[in-house]
Amino acid sequence: AVRRPAELHVLPTPAAAAQNAPILSIVYGSQTGNSRHLAEQLKREAEASGLGVRLLRAGEYPLRELKNERLLYLIISTQGDGDPPDDARSLVEHLLSKRAPELKQLSFAVLALGDSSYPKFCETGRLLDERLAALGATRALPRVDCDLDFERDGKPWLIRALNSAREQLKPVAAVASIKTLRSVTGTAVFGRDNPFRAEVLASQRITGRDAQKDVRHIELSLADSGLTYSPGDALGVWPQNPPQLVNELLQTLKLDGASEVEFEGRRLPLARWLSGEREITRLARPFLATHAAHAGSSELNRLLAPASRDELAPLLRDYQVIDVLRQWPALWSGEELIASLRRLTPRLYSIASSQKLVGDEVHLTLGTIDYQAFGSRHVGAASNFLATLDEDGRAPVYVEANERFRLPVDASRDILMIGPGTGIAPFRAFVQERTAINASGRNWLFFGEQHFASQFLYQLEWQEALKKGQLHRLDLAFSRDQAQKIYVQQRLREQGREVWDWLENGAHLYVCGDATRMAPDVHTALREIVIEHGGKSSEDADDYLARLSQQNRYARDVY
Ligand code: 2AM
Repeated sequence: AVRRPAELHVLPTPAAAAQNAPILSIVYGSQTGNSRHLAEQLKREAEASGLGVRLLRAGEYPLRELKNERLLYLIISTQGDGDPPDDARSLVEHLLSKRAPELKQLSFAVLALGDSSYPKFCETGRLLDERLAALGATRALPRVDCDLDFERDGKPWLIRALNSAREQLKPVAAVASIKTLRSVTGTAVFGRDNPFRAEVLASQRITGRDAQKDVRHIELSLADSGLTYSPGDALGVWPQNPPQLVNELLQTLKLDGASEVEFEGRRLPLARWLSGEREITRLARPFLATHAAHAGSSELNRLLAPASRDELAPLLRDYQVIDVLRQWPALWSGEELIASLRRLTPRLYSIASSQKLVGDEVHLTLGTIDYQAFGSRHVGAASNFLATLDEDGRAPVYVEANERFRLPVDASRDILMIGPGTGIAPFRAFVQERTAINASGRNWLFFGEQHFASQFLYQLEWQEALKKGQLHRLDLAFSRDQAQKIYVQQRLREQGREVWDWLENGAHLYVCGDATRMAPDVHTALREIVIEHGGKSSEDADDYLARLSQQNRYARDVY
């Protein structure tokens, strides 16, 4: 199997290690796995240079050990509107609270990950970096904020962090400082940087003709790749940008797609840079800033000022590069353009199948992005790429493990799954898996979409599963089939008594789908259920849900 085995965190605790040499603790808070990648790399490097080191997910970090910790490296991402990853919530809250201990003994460093198309870029890392210093800890090295191209941005920090740890922990013999990281060489293992070209076995629209949304069911072949996955994992897909959009960009900028452009030691035709190497369907600040200078636009410059943050946010969210070029025209050279645009990054899709049922296939439930804006059609990079691949076409993919979103090890536990829209995907995998292993726990699914007739995703499969006793309860919320909107959280509330009983009986709860509105609204509904049916105060209800999440019994896969 290619996937890394789960890390065993049975390394010495600082207290235990105090008798010997102090150790380095690397703690990561990851939503999509990026922070984990960097943290694992740092751990391997630190071990290779003879340091005592332990690696921990933020969610499993024993908070009481903070005051004994000597050297702590935090690698942490920020999601959406400035929130910490779910897994890091309790660590962040603890550190920012009044309960946080004085940390004079501690030396620390923070590597922050984020997405510069959101206004609160790297907020969580920034807050923690400031807070640790305020608690009396010594900053071993300055924080670095990484954009989506986290590997490029983070590598120099990793090297400095490694050298700093070597100085502080004084391994056996003093050695020359490290200038580069070893490149991780495996035996032809497919991963993020070495994706497998998976053949498309099936690709079909599963929303009805009259539905506004085009949701697709896609089946890919992992045959001969050695790739394996578990329910809850995601599939990373490296897209090609829409050809039409690449052409429009070239025309608008009066640039020749065949002309060669060199950047960071690579020479490629400009059209290839734009199709497969750079983000053009998403917009970020660095490009806008350079463009504002090119265009000499006072309006753009004003938008980029800190005071206009709230005005800039929707622009970063809704505009593609082409929209900016049209609204504020300016010309670029090919070299400058490639240097200013962000590197293309893979998209992650929650896997919708269990290997126990589908063998070496992997299934996805893909919501395609396709909308009219500013007078032209806009499509998303990966969804357009996948949706337009013919059967027999190939997509570069890899498996991104998601150990926070896992079925209960004890198969007799019940599970509650809340997955409106394409949030249904991992639950198809869950039910397939639980059926395959004959799990005795019950499965309860909440699903919602706009219309029953055209958007009941996998309707036949669910009905079949109900009939066969593989799915025990199904509650549906079709929001637009009646005058008043009905959402999944309303169904949850209606079944509140029963939901509470399931939870008290040890059920695991999963939420997948929209992060901005659905997930917080569902959280509120759960809170109300705990208050009403558990007879708890609102504070105790918060504690109850926080504890569920710490016990990995309330997991979210939201985007
Ligand atoms: P709507 O589009 O009619 O508003 C999947 O996208 C389903 O989630 C749709 O039925 C959508 O309804 C619904 N939805 C929208 N906002 C939601 C929210 N805040 N909570 C739960 N479901 C929501």
